[in-house]
Amino acid sequence: MSRFALITADADFEHRIRLAAASLPGALQTFQANFLPASIDDVFNQLVGEPIEVLILGPDLRSDDAFKFATAVDARHPHVSLIYAAQPTPDLALSAMRSGVRDLVIPTADSESLRSHLEQAAASATSRLAAAPPIGTIGDESEHAHGRIIAVMSPKGGVGKTTIATNIAVGLGKIAPMSVVIVDLDLQFGDVASALMLNPERTILDAASGPMDSLSLKTYLAPHPTNIYALCAPRNPADADKISPDGIAELIKHLAADFQYIIIDTSPGLGEHVLATLDQASDVVWVCGMDIPSVRGLKSGLEILNELHMLPEHRHVVLNMADRRTGITLQDVEATLGVPVDVVLPRSRSLPLSTNRGVPALQDGLRDPVVKGLRKLIDRFRPQWDNRDHKQLHRRADFQ
Ligand SMILES: Nc1ncnc2c1ncn2[C@@H]1O[C@H](COP(=O)(O)OP(=O)(O)O)[C@@H](O)[C@H]1O
Ligand SMILES: [Mg+2]
Repeated sequence: MSRFALITADADFEHRIRLAAASLPGALQTFQANFLPASIDDVFNQLVGEPIEVLILGPDLRSDDAFKFATAVDARHPHVSLIYAAQPTPDLALSAMRSGVRDLVIPTADSESLRSHLEQAAASATSRLAAAPPIGTIGDESEHAHGRIIAVMSPKGGVGKTTIATNIAVGLGKIAPMSVVIVDLDLQFGDVASALMLNPERTILDAASGPMDSLSLKTYLAPHPTNIYALCAPRNPADADKISPDGIAELIKHLAADFQYIIIDTSPGLGEHVLATLDQASDVVWVCGMDIPSVRGLKSGLEILNELHMLPEHRHVVLNMADRRTGITLQDVEATLGVPVDVVLPRSRSLPLSTNRGVPALQDGLRDPVVKGLRKLIDRFRPQWDNRDHKQLHRRADFQ
């Protein structure tokens, strides 16, 4: 059952929304007003029946008020899909996305088109709700929901961290739209922006030193067409020195309060900025190439973090660029590492192409065996995964 609420004094728009909602399961509650209350509680406390999934703001509401309202809804009721009826100019669309509006509809849209927007908004609200960690699973001290922090790491460069991190983000964006942020912690030579074809004005340099309340944080993020956000590396590698590890740790903490998934792409090795995030990370994805130095490097990395008691709760070992012609086998890799490989990604001809185009494989529906492996990796972050039979958690990976 989906539940809808509408705020508008525009009778014509209300009529079309009523028609649209009539053919969908769930009830519609309308507030006839051409203004928004100062507090979202004034609306939420008046809702009757089950909690709502989709909130629609009519075209007669001022955009400034709508965005402020959306930010508060996003922070306190993050699963609710908020739709605003306004002409989607590029500027307005950007402000809308930043504020937490999940969709814009044209004020004159017919009921059929409104229906498909409502349907999609309800589906994404349902999946966000399903992806939210169950209450009580996070430390008692945190009153608000807490996102899953996934660090993608490897001791060596060029093994596929950025490729994998960006694809995880795009894949999770389908499970939790607008609730995924990818952070580029390769502060000197980060290329998340290029992998996602973004050219953001603001970067992690601004974010790590500015105010970190929900509203300010969103202004540092670059929205990506796959319904995810990116916090990109500084444009100038020299700026990396201006960013303190404490600033990064604080930033990640604030992002985790607002987003369901925080994917951290990292620089090779165990730099101080990466270490500063690890005690908050719930997951680490270890990326290993199919060559002896890469495997040995990963083994040392695991040992060092183990000694430092800094290993996050969930470990995912990915063997990337797997190829039978390397002279070593999956079994060799596992024997050296001393831990099982969870996901094998075959060497692919298309991946370098998608890197160069700035379009992740999972964005453009690439047909390539590597996509199956990427999906398998993303499945490991679904909320239901941990409830699976634990024998399967580290089931032996395989590849041809
Ligand atoms: N499975 C794969 N098969 C073929 N090429 C790959 C694969 N994974 C990554 N690559 C390519 O390797 C290069 C380096 O990957 P990248 O993700 O930038 O590595 P890192 O972030 O670890 O330095 C990129 O051009 C990328 O497209
Ligand atoms: Mg990289």
